[in-house]
This record gives sequence, C-alpha cells and structure tokens, in this order.
Amino acid sequence: RWEAVPLAPPDSIFKLTAAYKADTHPNKVNLGVGAYRDDDSKPWVLPVVKKATEILLNDPTVDHEYLPITGLPEYTAAAARLVFGKDSSVIKDERVASVQTISGTGANHLGALFLSKFYGWNEKRIYVSDPTWVNHHAIFPQVGIPVSTYPYYDPQTIGLAFPAFLETLKTAPARSVFLLHACAHNPTGVDPTREQWGQIADAMLEKGHFAFFDSAYQGFASGDLENDAWAVREFARRSVPLLVCQSFAKNAGLYGERVGALHIVAPSKEGAARIKSQLSVLARAEISNPPAHGARLVSLILNSDELFEDWKRDIKTMAGRIIAMRKELHRLLTEELKTPGNWDHIVNQIGMFSFTGIGPAQSQALVEKAHIYLTSNGRISMAGLNSHNIRYFATQLDKAVRG
Ligand code: LMR
Repeated sequence: RWEAVPLAPPDSIFKLTAAYKADTHPNKVNLGVGAYRDDDSKPWVLPVVKKATEILLNDPTVDHEYLPITGLPEYTAAAARLVFGKDSSVIKDERVASVQTISGTGANHLGALFLSKFYGWNEKRIYVSDPTWVNHHAIFPQVGIPVSTYPYYDPQTIGLAFPAFLETLKTAPARSVFLLHACAHNPTGVDPTREQWGQIADAMLEKGHFAFFDSAYQGFASGDLENDAWAVREFARRSVPLLVCQSFAKNAGLYGERVGALHIVAPSKEGAARIKSQLSVLARAEISNPPAHGARLVSLILNSDELFEDWKRDIKTMAGRIIAMRKELHRLLTEELKTPGNWDHIVNQIGMFSFTGIGPAQSQALVEKAHIYLTSNGRISMAGLNSHNIRYFATQLDKAVRG
C-alpha cells in the first residue's frame, strides 16, 4: 500500500524558512518568505492587533460557536468596503458577493473553484504573469484550470514587459481570465503605472476578459490603503468583470490566523445573491465555516474609527521601514560598493519583494556560501533586511555579482 506515492519536493518558499531556522551561522539572513520583520529580525505583532485582542478578551459576548458558512458578516462587509471604497457603486448597489476565506490562498482557491464551475469558458484556462507567486501555478490546476503565462517581467530592463503583456491581452481568446496582482507584484515588485493600468482595462473590456485580482498587500505597498487599491477600484468603476482575493496576512500581520475574503462583483444585487449562494455551497463542502478569531480582530479594526487610525499608523511603520531599506540597499550598492550594473530597480520596485536581477547560480551561492536565504529566482523579501544585516547582505550580493 502507498508504494506508488512518489516523494514530493519541499515547497520552494517554506523550505527556506526551515533551512534558515536550522542554520546556526551568526550572520544568517532570511530573505525567503514574504513576512514582515522588525529591525531586529523579529516578527512584529501590530500594536493595533494587541489592542483589538485585548478588546476581544474582555468581551463577554464572545463565544466559540460556528460562524456563518460565508463568514462573519461585519468582517466581510467591511473588507469589501476597504478594497472597493465605501462610495464605490458596486458597494452602494450591493453588487459584491463577499465570502470569508482561509486567507489569500483560500480566496484564490475558492475563486478558482467557482470559475471552474460557473464561468462561461471559451477555453478553460487562466493567464498568470510570468513570473508570478509560485502557488498560483498549483492552485488553478488543482481545480482543473490549466495555467498559461503572459509576459510581465523584462529581464533586460528589470521592469515591466508592457508591450508584450498588452499584446497577449489583445490576442488571447475573447472572455479569457487574467490573474492580476492588485499592487506590489509578487515576486517582482514591478507594478504597472496608472496609465498602463488604464490600457490594460481598455484591452480587457474590448475582449470581454475577466480580471482575477489577487490583493495581498493593500496598504503594505505604499503605506496608503487607498493608493494600493487604485487599480481594483478603477477596474470596478469601468465595469471590467472581476473578482478580488483579499488577504490580511501581511497588512495586519495576521499570517497564522488565515483571514481573507473573496469578493465577486456581479452585474446586479440579485446576481450577487445567486453567486453568494453558490460560494456558500462550495465553502460548506470544503471548510464548513471559516475560523473566527482573526476575522473578529480585523472586523474590530475596520469598524472602529480609532482602531482604523491606529492600523493606518502601523501600516505606515511597516511600509516605511521597507522603503528605508530599499534606499539604504541602493545607496550601499551604488555609492559605497560601486557594484557593477544599474540598481535603480531596488528603489523603483514596490512592496514586500525586490527582484534583484541575479540568476539562480548567484542565488544558490548566496544561500550556500553566505547563509543568506532567498528564492532561486533572485527574489528577496525586503522585510528581512534591517540596520544590522543590510551591510552584510550588500557586501555578499556585490561579491556574487562580481563572481
Ligand atoms: C511569499 O510569497 O513568500 C508569501 O506570499 C508567502 C507564501 O505563502 O508563499
């Protein structure tokens, strides 16, 4: 029995966390998984989350009953307002079917499952950016949706391959589904400009494509929740058919609580109710009811003016530290070490990650020789850098680049 089960390789991102933990070298640096760290390389519990936790602990009405299948209603409603904006017509017209999910991964999965069953496919397929978050390549085939890629990253410019991306939008079969990163593209940190988003929306409307937005970094990218939701809101305003996968792992530092939501925009309120009824059936078969604790925390934060202001301050702390690290790394490479090549992308890229532009061999050398853990595609989690280890990292990167 089970002799035929082959051994699977470890996850390419989480294996780095395990290797880093097992490493005893004093200068080890973890730039693998996208998780925020403070200036001492420690996970950071947001002060607003501590405050909300305190409130929950002292709330005598909190119990351990099941949540509704589609989640905590005051959480899902506030989460939808956060991403679309409270004055958005899709919110006012009650055209969004919102369901609580097991963080962003669960939202991607539920969205994929729903589309696999109900989307009017010409050809079942999702287009994802080349490259994209590795897990996208696993989530869609799991529900029988093959994955194709569209050009996104241009290694020559270490920027957006915009003409080729647009060309794929224009030549893909009508009504194709395109996965778009709402902001802070993972893994490249390269986002379209507003003007480019406009052209992407034009092409999508022209071909009747569907936008599958993955929004894992709202607020985390620029420090401004509104700014980071701009693309989603613009697409909604222009009536591009869309859904949004939302995660509070990064922007609320609630990685382990698995707080997410799936929002599918419908043409009418009645359509949204039908979609939600089907999402409820799918969720029931898979998880029955979503976890309560994290949703309660986020609901408190989103529904209280005071806590919301506190949260915005915490988000600025995180985004600000990452932006400061980008500037310092850029300065070290260009001014102090005079590392060969152009490093402007370090400051131009947005969000948790930077695509350094180094290849798999150089990344491997950093892991093996310098105890610096990063994915083989040259992605670094900027949040892993801090005032204590940035000089070591820059020096080792310089060495790797010089070969
Ligand atoms: C990452 O890309 O490192 C994060 O989104 C964590 C994950 O789940 O892969």
